[in-house]
Amino acid sequence: MSFTVAIDGPAAAGKGTISRAVAARFGFAHLDTGLLYRAVGAKVAAGAAPEAAALALVPADLEGPGLRTLEAGQAASRVATIPEVRAALVEFQRRFARQPGGAVLDGRDIGTVICPEAEVKLYVTASAEVRAHRRWLEVGGEPAQVLAEVRERDARDMGRADAPLRPADDAVILDTSDLSIDAAVAQAVALIEARRKSG
Ligand code: DC
Repeated sequence: MSFTVAIDGPAAAGKGTISRAVAARFGFAHLDTGLLYRAVGAKVAAGAAPEAAALALVPADLEGPGLRTLEAGQAASRVATIPEVRAALVEFQRRFARQPGGAVLDGRDIGTVICPEAEVKLYVTASAEVRAHRRWLEVGGEPAQVLAEVRERDARDMGRADAPLRPADDAVILDTSDLSIDAAVAQAVALIEARRKSG
């Protein structure tokens, strides 16, 4: 039996942490779909054509060095505006979502485009200032620059024509600005448990 949890939201809102915790709690497989775009962005930075890079992606590419940097995030956000790149990655994500045993996918368009039928949809967000502070704790650098990059990425991810970042109509909004990680995870777990009980 498949069971899909779709977790969308802007950069550094806590999607990844919540997704990993939920996957561990329920024994679901987890796919960080941002890594797909980061891997394509890295190949394009190395000279590949965007669509060809997306079509040629293999699992080992998701473990490439340097995919977690701010720079890799910006490169990912840029290639993610290209419809052919997005189209090339759809099938893999849908197959992953429907595997037996359950799956959690986190990204920007999981509840709206990739898995509109997901059993649970969460939209995890937080203020740009809180997200920039979290990112700065991870990567360091100049705080104002980190905030500017968060805002720039939000604008591109929300403003693109193809599959822009937005909550699905039936998504539950989880604002983590003033929530601890434990409290945010507890809310996500409660939602999934309720949905599993209701069948
Ligand atoms: O979640 P992340 O920061 O690793 O994502 C990097 C970029 O990839 C993000 O700015 C936009 C793009 N992305 C996307 O367009 N759709 C997804 N499902 C996941 C990521």
